[in-house]
Amino acid sequence: MFANLPAMALRVRKAIIPAAGLGTRFLPATKTIPKEMLPIVDVPTLQLVVEEALASGIEEIILVTGRGKSSIEDHFDVSYELERTLSDRKKSELLASVEKISKMVRMVSVRQKEPLGLGHAVLVARQAANDEAVAVLLGDDLYDCDGRKPATRQLCDAFDRAQGRGVISLLEVAAGEESLYGVVAGKPDASDPSLFAVSDMVEKPAPGTAPSRLAIVGRYVLPPEIWPILQSTKPGKNGEIQLTDALKTLAQTRGCVGITVDGIRHDAGDRLGYLGACLAYAMKRDELRPGLTKMMKQLIAAG
Ligand code: G1P
Repeated sequence: MFANLPAMALRVRKAIIPAAGLGTRFLPATKTIPKEMLPIVDVPTLQLVVEEALASGIEEIILVTGRGKSSIEDHFDVSYELERTLSDRKKSELLASVEKISKMVRMVSVRQKEPLGLGHAVLVARQAANDEAVAVLLGDDLYDCDGRKPATRQLCDAFDRAQGRGVISLLEVAAGEESLYGVVAGKPDASDPSLFAVSDMVEKPAPGTAPSRLAIVGRYVLPPEIWPILQSTKPGKNGEIQLTDALKTLAQTRGCVGITVDGIRHDAGDRLGYLGACLAYAMKRDELRPGLTKMMKQLIAAG
């Protein structure tokens, strides 16, 4: 069906950001606040992910949401009363930061009505994606690529080099942590050693059974062939439709490669990783660094 698509069709214009999860690791905070809205200092996690997508050349965001997530849509919408008040009070910097958000992006949202898995969440976006190649960005994984290309751009560039094969972000995780991730098997690509040709994948392998320590970490660029594959992917781990299972089929048909993103990855879906991300991003801010450094020294000295 997709075999003879012209090269233009493989331009990656749209990104899917799944944001329908319950955020149970951050309860009780996430009882009423979507975990995607938890701030890294003063910017919601999801805004950082959207900014990465846009800086990578993505033109449209497809947000996959669920119940109780309307504050995400509001965040990216115009906030007339707030903007008017900031304007009246001559708070021009704050006004600019708020206006920037609503102007930032063309966003559509689709609902995942039941928690049937990450593969299902992506599939729910199929119509909005119009069967095109897409990027998928998971909000739990933040990539700080200061001074380098943004993470999704690095994947899109690899997608060009990989000639239409899928691309995933890979990271070597510590022994024992494999069961938290989708894990791959494969070898460096014969024609381009910067790509890792994936031959097999397993979602959250049982301890001691992982094919390697190379884990999938939150960024994907998928060719159009992924859509019919996802459509026919059966429930897997935990009875959910797993994106990893669809990627395995893709790897064994059209092909799939991995790259290691040049940047620092924060696991903001984990409480300790989230705290680390907050500290790391705060340390990059001139107005916060001196005070935070002093505070951290005091806290450490106090044991
Ligand atoms: C998801 C994916 C998994 C991937 C992980 C980190 O799992 O299913 O393959 O390794 O994200 O990006 P989750 O952490 O949402 O359970």
